[in-house]
Amino acid sequence: MIIREFRRLDIKRVLEIEEMSFKDPYPASILMDVYNMGAGFLVAQKDNLVVGYIIFWIKFEDEGHIISVAIDKKYRREEIGTSLVDTVIQIFRKYEMKKIKLEVRAENNEARKFYRSLGFEEEKILPNYYEDNEDAVVMEKMLK
Ligand SMILES: CC(C)(COP(=O)(O)OP(=O)(O)OC[C@H]1O[C@@H](n2cnc3c(N)ncnc32)[C@H](O)[C@@H]1OP(=O)(O)O)[C@@H](O)C(=O)NCCC(=O)NCCS
Repeated sequence: MIIREFRRLDIKRVLEIEEMSFKDPYPASILMDVYNMGAGFLVAQKDNLVVGYIIFWIKFEDEGHIISVAIDKKYRREEIGTSLVDTVIQIFRKYEMKKIKLEVRAENNEARKFYRSLGFEEEKILPNYYEDNEDAVVMEKMLK
């Protein structure tokens, strides 16, 4: 498995993974907009196939943000998600970020467990954060 920068040709696979992973998947146009605006975008590739991706950016001077991470269903529980988040943690450390934050759907218990396994703590609830009124849980990891 390798982790590398997203390339435009990867968008088809990223979209497939996005659609199998979220009930409100982002369309390709939004993913490409985020990429074109300069967000970090990495993919995990295994045997020549893109099997996961992560999108992240620096939100404030000292705060990194994970926008989205998803792994192809067939490749889950192989630590690929962990490798992607660890890579982003290293990048944020290099940029001297003090913390990383993200929002996750309150009902997404698998993702909440996943982030907890990586040392993220649940900081607060944002009521009705999503379009369908589901709450978000803000999760945070201090880097220093
Ligand atoms: C959440 C997600 C990215 C995890 O990716 P992954 O590559 O399967 O995760 P890892 O193999 O690195 O898991 C690391 C640890 O996280 C926890 N974890 C991961 N998936 C879990 C699940 N479905 N249920 C419970 N715990 C889970 C476990 O502690 C796991 O360690 P273990 O396998 O030794 O028990 C993946 O399930 C996914 O794409 N989900 C759909 C999209 C999503 O919800 N993204 C996050 C919100 S932005």
